[in-house]
Amino acid sequence: MSKTIIITGGAGFIGSHVVRLFATKYPEYKIVNLDKLTYAGNLENLKDIDRLPNYEFVKADITDAESIRKIFAQYKPDGVIHLAAESHVDRSIANPMEFINTNIIGTVVLLNAAREIWGDNFDGKRFYHISTDEVYGSLGKTGFFTETTGYDPRSPYSSSKASSDHLVRAYFHTYKLPVVVSNCSNNYGANQFPEKLIPLSINNIKNNKQIPIYGKGENIRDWLYVIDHARAIDVIYHEGKTGETYNIGGNNEWTNIDLIHLLCKIMDKKLNRSAGTSEKLITFVKDRAGHDLRYAIDSSKLQRELGWKPSLQFEEGLEKTVDWYLANEEWLNNVVSGTYEKYYEKQYTQR
Ligand code: NAD
Ligand code: DAU
Repeated sequence: MSKTIIITGGAGFIGSHVVRLFATKYPEYKIVNLDKLTYAGNLENLKDIDRLPNYEFVKADITDAESIRKIFAQYKPDGVIHLAAESHVDRSIANPMEFINTNIIGTVVLLNAAREIWGDNFDGKRFYHISTDEVYGSLGKTGFFTETTGYDPRSPYSSSKASSDHLVRAYFHTYKLPVVVSNCSNNYGANQFPEKLIPLSINNIKNNKQIPIYGKGENIRDWLYVIDHARAIDVIYHEGKTGETYNIGGNNEWTNIDLIHLLCKIMDKKLNRSAGTSEKLITFVKDRAGHDLRYAIDSSKLQRELGWKPSLQFEEGLEKTVDWYLANEEWLNNVVSGTYEKYYEKQYTQR
């Protein structure tokens, strides 16, 4: 193998797409998926590639410094692509501490392990930290986040991600650790846990349950197909400049209510329901505390310098996403029922 890359959070939504892309596109790399398998981590996401000879899964918690040190000593990675995180804003509002531990402490544990294994020889080495556009705060009706927009996080989740971004950059400036950071907008696609707006709504519409819309549904997000995010991560890992930050976004802004109207139309068609059936499920509920109004990414640096651009129109991506959820009923039922969590508990605590 020419290179070993540890991908943290590889059993999660975005991580599984990144693992698949790297393991299949680069058979000469050894890809180590390091994941704790929290409620959001699911090895079912990778069952199509888990027998590849260049793929390995290691169950570990990034906050456990001793285990992480041992894993780094064993695999001697050339690269780390760090996606492991607590990722859901509503859970961060209910329980901030998990977010501080995993997103901040866990990131520092990984930075320390990389420093220890690499010493002063950074040849061919890279620590790539995956972050979010939420660190920039909330926009009004106009403007875009650029790489130089000041940080202004407003939820425990975005604050913990902002903190981890600062620490990653501090290790670059202080210890010359070869880091690169990207900040991406909202992802959608297959394998997203059905607590996030799009998969939650698909699941509820399918089961004739209410679609809960926070506030008036006027908040705006910039949606990017998850495979386009994985493609951007590939380009930035290989061609991004050390110490730099790249914004990734879909240039695809939707108010939540318009998005849900579009989704309802697609679902009616796919489920052979008469037009307007799914819309009746829309229910306006209490707003999220501190709900950011608008996110919008300017990804021109990435497009100009590294030649990346999104490949899919939103309508096409959303239709593909709906098709995937309708075709993968067992996956959906398992994650909703928690069956897979119980399975992993049994499987891994017996070793
Ligand atoms: P996810 O919640 O689907 O997956 C997170 C993964 O991390 C899971 O597999 C989980 O088991 C693992 N994990 C959690 N805590 C861990 C720990 N202590 N040790 C080891 N593994 C642990 O998240 P996602 O939506 O795929 O997001 C992945 C990354 O991308 C996160 O860093 C997130 O902040 C960032 N991001 C997400 C989005 C988005 O729209 N989902 C957008 C921009 C950036
Ligand atoms: O912008 C990138 C971020 O996008 C990532 O860093 C986060 O990990 C990811 O979870 C996502 O955060 P959001 O809070 O934007 O995503 P979520 O799907 O939770 O919500 C999208 C919008 O929909 C938001 O305005 C809140 C609203 N919403 C969400 C849920 C779950 C509802 O109206 N009803 C809901 O039930």
